[in-house]
Amino acid sequence: MGTTVTPLIDTFGRLADDLRVSVTDKCNFRCTYCMPAEGLPWIPSERTLGFDEIERLVGIFVGLGVSEVKLTGGEPTVRRELPDLVARLHARFPAVTMSMTTNGFLLDRLAAPLARAGLGRVTVSCDSLLRHRFAEMTRRDALERVFAGLRAADAAGLSPIKLNCVVIAGTNDDEVVDFARLSRETGYQVRFIEYMPLDADHRWERAKVVPSADVVAAIDRAFPLLADAGGSEPARTFRFADGAPGGVGVVPSVTEPFCDTCNRLRLTADGQLRACLFSMHEADLRTPLRAGASDEELEATIRSTVWAKWEGHKINHPDFERPDRSMSMIGG
Ligand code: 5AD
Ligand code: SF4
Repeated sequence: MGTTVTPLIDTFGRLADDLRVSVTDKCNFRCTYCMPAEGLPWIPSERTLGFDEIERLVGIFVGLGVSEVKLTGGEPTVRRELPDLVARLHARFPAVTMSMTTNGFLLDRLAAPLARAGLGRVTVSCDSLLRHRFAEMTRRDALERVFAGLRAADAAGLSPIKLNCVVIAGTNDDEVVDFARLSRETGYQVRFIEYMPLDADHRWERAKVVPSADVVAAIDRAFPLLADAGGSEPARTFRFADGAPGGVGVVPSVTEPFCDTCNRLRLTADGQLRACLFSMHEADLRTPLRAGASDEELEATIRSTVWAKWEGHKINHPDFERPDRSMSMIGG
C-alpha cells in the first residue's frame, strides 16, 4: 500500500484486476449445462482453501492491483460460514468491490447477513421463468425459492441485482422477451450468456448456441433498446429506450469473443490460479502457500501466470480442446 505497484499485465497488454474466488466446487443444483445429475467427485476438504488462506491470497492479489473480487462456486452459499469470510475480506480490503454469483436458492436466508458483512452486489442465475422448465434445466424445482431469494437480496440492498440467463437453442430461447419484461418490472439487470462448452456432460454443440445478436434483435423488437456507451463488463449492455427501469446485456463468449479485453483471473476452491476459463494450465498456489512460501514468492508465481496468459480461447478453431474442469469446478 502507499507505494505504487506494477499492475498485473500479460504479453497482450491486458490488465488483470478482477479476481473470481471459488469458495467451493459443491452445488445444491445440477444445471444440465454445468453438472451431471449425480454430481462430480468433490474436491476433498483438506485440499479446499480455508478462510485464512483465501484472505492471505486475496491480500496478495489486492497488493498487485486487483480491485474487484467476486465470490463464486460451485455454489458459494453452500460454503459454511460464508458471511464470516465476507466480513473478514471487507474489513481488510474496504476499497475492494465484493460481489457474488449464486443460484439464489439460499439467498432468502443469507442475503441480509451477507449484506451486513459487506457484500456489495449479487448476480443470480435464472434460466427460465417457467416452473417446469426451470426444474428441467437446474434439476431442482426451485423457481419460487430463487424468487424469494431475489426479493431478499433486493430488500437487503444487494443491488443493482444482476440475473444471469444461459440461453440454449430449443430450450429457453423463447423466453428472452419475458426476461426483458421482468427487468422492466423489477429493475433487475438481465445478462444473457451464450452457452459455452464447459458442461460436465459434454452435451454442448454449436447448434445450441443462440447468437447474442439474435437475442438483442428479439428484445429490441418488443422493447426498443439503446446501447450503453463503453463500460468495463464483457457484457454488451442496453437500456430501454422508453426509460423503463432495468436493462439487458449479452455475453457473446462464443459468437463474438471478448478475450482481447478480458481482465479476469480465477482462483479455484483448491487454490489453483487460472488466467482463462478455458486455460489448459493452472498455477498451483495452494502447495507453496502451505509450504510456507513468502508473499514475494507467491507474487512471482501470480505475475508469471498472468504474463503467460494466452491470447484467447479457441472455441471457434477446429483444434479447440475443452479444459478438464467444468464450470462448477472453475467458478464463473
Ligand atoms: N455456458 C455458459 N454459462 C454457464 N454457466 C455455467 N455453465 C455454463 C455454460 N456451460 C453460468 C451459470 C452462472 C455463471 C457463473 O456461469 O449459469 O450464471
Ligand atoms: Fe450449480 Fe451454478 Fe453449475 Fe447450476 S451452473 S449446477 S447453480 S454451479
